Amino acid sequence: KNIAIFASGAGSNAQKIIDHFRGSDKAAVTLILCNKPGAGVFTIAENEHIPSILIEKERFFKTDDYIQILKEAKIDLVVLAGFLWKVPGNLVQAFPDRIINIHPALLPKYGGKGMYGHFVHDAVIAAKETESGITIHFVNEKYDDGATILQERCTITPDDTPETLAKKVQVLEHKHYPLIVERLLTL
Ligand code: GRF
Repeated sequence: KNIAIFASGAGSNAQKIIDHFRGSDKAAVTLILCNKPGAGVFTIAENEHIPSILIEKERFFKTDDYIQILKEAKIDLVVLAGFLWKVPGNLVQAFPDRIINIHPALLPKYGGKGMYGHFVHDAVIAAKETESGITIHFVNEKYDDGATILQERCTITPDDTPETLAKKVQVLEHKHYPLIVERLLTL
């Protein structure tokens, strides 16, 4: 089974997923797509000898080019890992229930456009929530809106800051995302 990862940043989730399937004869990350030149995920692709593609905005939103690329690469699952663009409808339709995303909060709260990275944890701490966590969900044409696959929670203590919360959430991401990918590929 072939996994494509879409990322925009450091790619720590991408790395964990790559590590999880290392040596597996059932699945592998075979393609990495990123919309941000110089993003850390390109270094990961290089180190792991995985082909990577810099996504261009016009092509992504106005053509089927990336759908063709994914089809030709026989991609079975598209994994968004810190990918900051909304997935266009034609791509969602081309891979029904085969595109997933991880959001560093308990959706439906603290989701939607602009709610990513530290902004999420700032808002959760500011709202004095006593817990946060991750939401792994199917991707549809709206931000952070598809059917939930898994939610995992972590507690927030009074001395937690957005930084310490981000760390707690990242531990959950790195632990659970690879396992959900495996489950969805029915491995
Ligand atoms: C994580 O917070 C993830 O929940 C969100 O974007 C970030 C990705 O981080 N979707 P990384 O690039 O995988 O380190």
